[in-house]
Amino acid sequence: MAIIYQIYPLSFLDTNKDGIGDIKGIIKKLKYLEELGAEYIWITPIFKSPMEDNGYDISNYYDVNPIFGTKEDLKELIDTAKKHNIKIILDLVLNHTSTEHDWFIKASKDVNSKYHDYYIWSENPPQIDSYFGGSAWEYVPSVKKYYLHMFSTGQADLNWKNEKLREELFEMINYYIDLGAGGFRLDVLDLIGKDLENNNLYDRELLLKYLKELNEKCFKGKDIFTVGEMNLPLEKAHYLSKNEILTTVFQFNHIALDEVAGKGKWELKKLELNDLKEVLNNIQQVYQKGGTPSLFWSNHDQPRALGRYLNLDYRYYGQTMLFMLMYLQKGHIFIYQGEEFGMSGLGLVDIDKYKDVEALNYYNIATKTKSKESVLRSLAVKARDHARTPMQWNNTKNAGFSKGKPWMEVNANYTEVNFEKDYNSDKSIYKFLKKLLEIRQNNTTFDKGLFKLVVLGPHIFAYERVLDDNYLIVCNFSDKKQPIIDLKGEIILNNYDSLDNQLKPYQALLIKRG
Ligand code: NOJ
Repeated sequence: MAIIYQIYPLSFLDTNKDGIGDIKGIIKKLKYLEELGAEYIWITPIFKSPMEDNGYDISNYYDVNPIFGTKEDLKELIDTAKKHNIKIILDLVLNHTSTEHDWFIKASKDVNSKYHDYYIWSENPPQIDSYFGGSAWEYVPSVKKYYLHMFSTGQADLNWKNEKLREELFEMINYYIDLGAGGFRLDVLDLIGKDLENNNLYDRELLLKYLKELNEKCFKGKDIFTVGEMNLPLEKAHYLSKNEILTTVFQFNHIALDEVAGKGKWELKKLELNDLKEVLNNIQQVYQKGGTPSLFWSNHDQPRALGRYLNLDYRYYGQTMLFMLMYLQKGHIFIYQGEEFGMSGLGLVDIDKYKDVEALNYYNIATKTKSKESVLRSLAVKARDHARTPMQWNNTKNAGFSKGKPWMEVNANYTEVNFEKDYNSDKSIYKFLKKLLEIRQNNTTFDKGLFKLVVLGPHIFAYERVLDDNYLIVCNFSDKKQPIIDLKGEIILNNYDSLDNQLKPYQALLIKRG
């Protein structure tokens, strides 16, 4: 089971004072990441891009975006990381390219160009909504057709039915494998199986065919870690991992529990612990039959769990409890930058603090029918910006992230919440996580053992892991004390100094029972 640390390069560490994090900044922190226990680093896209969607709009797969550095920097990162026993996972966007990609420029000038068919066009498009709001079709007068963009207008969807296109993508992936990449995170991979001729945006058979081909042509027989971002039924995702078509899959059911089902991401509701138990338990049960799920709370699209679900007055206890709840289950561990010392989101702020195209689109569309206050409340909980603020390394200017003007405002709490302060405190989240990861890596029960949910109370998330050893994990998911029955066994890890006859707010325990 792997430990993966996710880096959002724009906000990680700026070494050339332009206010934007860079590859050299990542190289500087490799020792830090090795010490924490990271075996892989997943870096969100660093390829050439006009940055309409912060790099998920690639205009040249073979070039590094100069704001992050050069191809040489990337090579240096891969090679230096190896010396720290870390492999680099690159982020591949295979569902769409930027409309500034050479392919699209040619495709949109000439219907007879071979590139025209690399994209999805229609003269009379069916109604499809973009994930970022508004229609998913955009008209191009020069060819008198609309192209499909499931995300922003600058992100044109690729036509995977075109064999030549698939070959070009596979060739590019193999180029990065030859350069030394240790793996790939594959963006919205569930969207590539489109069959618009038959009005099917999500053709699962077609998808499986492409995934098998991708595996065959690029990954099979190689030591390459792959994680597909895919909104699929649990059994289908499990099939992909179990059959090693992908190493693992990101699924989002457990972090969509604070939204009203079927109403999109902005319609908020309170997270119910029972729902979380049900979703996570289902995943664990399915993966008892083989394959490995992914374990994560946040990423660059998912606001940090700490302030989203928990009371920030208990930062240390809340964050360490979240780690215990998630990371002792079966699965690959994904840590999102800043979680290791308890960073949180911006909270309720005005619209001028937001940068993300999704948040701005939502605001513009939603304020036509809803009050500004309610729109800002949804944004405060769900906008991606809250996960994207610069890393808070220390309490110097700009939290030590940059000596220039940061591309995005640093969270004002940085004098209180930063790595240096955490590391030097008696109650260090970073040190707790490091210890947890060590325990986990030194005990196969957490990889291979059975997972059994244990009922201890409505506010307690508890489970057993059983193989040669028997472990009980108990997490108080509330900021109130919770009564418990006598918990017998040896306490291996406790985020408080003691255990009374009640669990303290967000108290979490790992108990060995035999
Ligand atoms: C998922 C990525 O994580 C997100 O940041 C991006 O906006 C969309 N895919 C579109 O590429």
